Amino acid sequence: MMSGDSEVIIKVKGVNKYFSTSSGILEVLKNVNLEVRRKSFLTFIGPSGCGKSTLLSMIGGLVRPSDGEIYIENIKAEGPRPDKIAMVFQDPALLPWRTVMGNVEFGLEIRGIPKKERRDIAQKYIDLVGLSKFEDYFPTQLSGGMRQRVAIARALAVEPEILLMDEPFANLDEQSRLLLGIDLVRIWQRTGKTIVFVTHSIQEAALLSTEIALFTRRPGTIKEVVKIDTGHPRSIEDDNVVKLRKYVWDKLREEIVSR
Ligand SMILES: Nc1ncnc2c1ncn2[C@@H]1O[C@H](COP(=O)(O)OP(=O)(O)O)[C@@H](O)[C@H]1O
Ligand SMILES: [Mg+2]
Repeated sequence: MMSGDSEVIIKVKGVNKYFSTSSGILEVLKNVNLEVRRKSFLTFIGPSGCGKSTLLSMIGGLVRPSDGEIYIENIKAEGPRPDKIAMVFQDPALLPWRTVMGNVEFGLEIRGIPKKERRDIAQKYIDLVGLSKFEDYFPTQLSGGMRQRVAIARALAVEPEILLMDEPFANLDEQSRLLLGIDLVRIWQRTGKTIVFVTHSIQEAALLSTEIALFTRRPGTIKEVVKIDTGHPRSIEDDNVVKLRKYVWDKLREEIVSR
């Protein structure tokens, strides 16, 4: 029951989300239904403010739905699941007084993993994200892209099944962003994680994902899940990628321009 790549690992069922604000009730998400298959790389794309981060936080158990349910491996999500889920945000939020090694080891330390073992695990993920030889550097000595690599290694070190990534490359220059995207695909293939990724970049979505969930404007709902059959690595000038970008943009434009 727990095996097979087509198995649903995350299920979002009839989720609505409201926030009460000083100016009244804000309806953010409306009847969201989604199934994420194990080992897929699913990307959320949609207009700003449509609730992508909110939905990701709900999957991560940080925010509760107003209505509906979220299941992680068939277990209803009632709070954070650090055993199963790690998150990477736009801001890598590294501990400035700790080295790269110290930052990647941090979650393992909290879990009480013995020193030698946590060194080995941390080293494995530092190598995987391409930071070998930078173990003793402090965050201020690293570029933005390298800091984000540390955040990814730190997330992977606790060996979660699911990686939730909220615009992790939004603060990077275009070249670092492209390179990190290529590396993320390699890491995803190597580790067999399930990734749910949020981006504003149509190109990034087209290059990385196995599926793209297109959101409507707020109150956000998923208007379509585009399945992508093209394998990896992909390049920006591939016919399929060009077609996909156009398709996604046409759908998004309907949500952004007034109707
Ligand atoms: N805790 C909160 N309280 C009130 N409003 C919120 C809260 N979190 C998010 N929002 C609002 O919900 C809407 C959706 O936010 P968000 O999920 O961050 O959108 P996205 O990530 O798609 O840009 C926005 O209008 C935002 O201001
Ligand atoms: Mg957001």
